[in-house]
Amino acid sequence: MAGELTRAGVIKIDDDFAGYSLESFLVPQHYSEDLEHVLIPHGLLCDRVERMALDILSSYPPGEPVICVCILKSAVGFFTALTGALQRVNLLCHPGGRSSSEMYSLTSWDENGIDQAHHNATRPLFFEFIRVQSYMDDHSSGSVEIQGIMNMKASIQGKNTLIVEDMIDTGATMQKVLEQFEAFDPKSLKVATLLRKRCPHGTGYMPDFVGFDIPDKFVVGFSIDYNQHFRDVPHLCVVNDNGKRKYASKQKV
Ligand code: IMP
Ligand code: MG
Repeated sequence: MAGELTRAGVIKIDDDFAGYSLESFLVPQHYSEDLEHVLIPHGLLCDRVERMALDILSSYPPGEPVICVCILKSAVGFFTALTGALQRVNLLCHPGGRSSSEMYSLTSWDENGIDQAHHNATRPLFFEFIRVQSYMDDHSSGSVEIQGIMNMKASIQGKNTLIVEDMIDTGATMQKVLEQFEAFDPKSLKVATLLRKRCPHGTGYMPDFVGFDIPDKFVVGFSIDYNQHFRDVPHLCVVNDNGKRKYASKQKV
């Protein structure tokens, strides 16, 4: 059974949600016959990511660096939005941005109204990239191939590490990725995912930060693909049967 998600603030999209008509938004003409509907418009994706950035950054001790690891290629849209938002949260901790800092409660103030911690309330961010492949057509290929991780130990050891992923479906991919990163002995290891699918045959793995809890449907857009197609759709959309047929892989597994 799909496990219930209990993370605060996660937006749940119900199984019977019909989505939005493609005519309500701008969708590239070249995909107009290949998509069923828009599940999450681009603006809503970005708005949720802004809040996730605040929750994520304030979960780390002030002043400590955070290594953000992007799982290429599908997480690149989420990673770009998230790291942009994380940088904005850091900027709001600047002493000149006092009222914004108060709003975000990331700094502490003494009885004279002096920000005692402004110089170390921010968290330096570092970016790393790995490539993971596990999907063929609309299902898992059964193997998880991780590239670019070999020489990463020096960047990860003793550091707060945040894995940034587009989607947790069964959870099998993330379990493999986490095994590798745990071996690098990070100070902490957390996972932020834009989407968590209510998959009936999941491993039960629960990420630390989740944007949206979505139905068990194949989705694309915001850098998420179906055999490399649809990454250039700004909204998260459900692919229709026409799209699945048109862009099906030639090499069946
Ligand atoms: P898992 O191992 O089953 O959790 O699959 C996670 C990976 O499969 C993610 O990194 C996604 O890139 C990919 N994936 C799972 N579901 C979808 C989908 O609906 N659309 C596109 N990619 C997906
Ligand atoms: Mg992925």
